[in-house]
Amino acid sequence: MNQDIEMNQDIERILLSQEEIAEKVNEIGARISSDFEGKEPIFVGVLKGCFIFMADLMRSVSIPCAMDFMAVSSYSGTNSTGAVKITKDLSEDVGGRHIILVEDILDSGVTLNYLKNYLMVRNPASIHIATLLDKPARRKAPILADYSCFGVPDAFVVGYGLDYNERYRNLPYIGILKPSVYS
Ligand code: IMP
Ligand code: MG
Repeated sequence: MNQDIEMNQDIERILLSQEEIAEKVNEIGARISSDFEGKEPIFVGVLKGCFIFMADLMRSVSIPCAMDFMAVSSYSGTNSTGAVKITKDLSEDVGGRHIILVEDILDSGVTLNYLKNYLMVRNPASIHIATLLDKPARRKAPILADYSCFGVPDAFVVGYGLDYNERYRNLPYIGILKPSVYS
């Protein structure tokens, strides 16, 4: 771990190093490239947590593709409020398109379940889900990721786009946050 990063002191342990993440993201990008050959998919990122993953994932995709973003609010602190509200909608028309929804972490699944149903109404050709992290132990909604980089234990993790109250998104690795930080 880079000793110069002041935020390191809030991290209990590193779960995934920068190198491990890069390797896996490239692998998933290659799989998507072959699965969607000739289909020109549109990546729809769920802000804000997706931004680093989506940037790296798209650069490892070798086929023509488009991108757009949505933003939802459903979380404050470390626990979901259960309610999903769309705060930024798509700016592209996704009718007839192959959508790849890009999330930072699939936790209860409530957010993605809601978004999937919401997007279905716009008649896309298909909807697939690509998530950086998956916490299956916490699942409440019937959602499975089509592309998942890593399964993670039931702990609150930050870094590589994931935050705790808007902090730690810029950590280059993924780490477990010390419970003392949020308790
Ligand atoms: P879900 O609707 O419960 O699946 O929530 C997904 C959203 O919750 C993610 O996009 C994250 O923003 C947030 N989230 C869930 N678990 C964590 C975590 O361990 N660290 C940071 N954010 C998390
Ligand atoms: Mg968040």
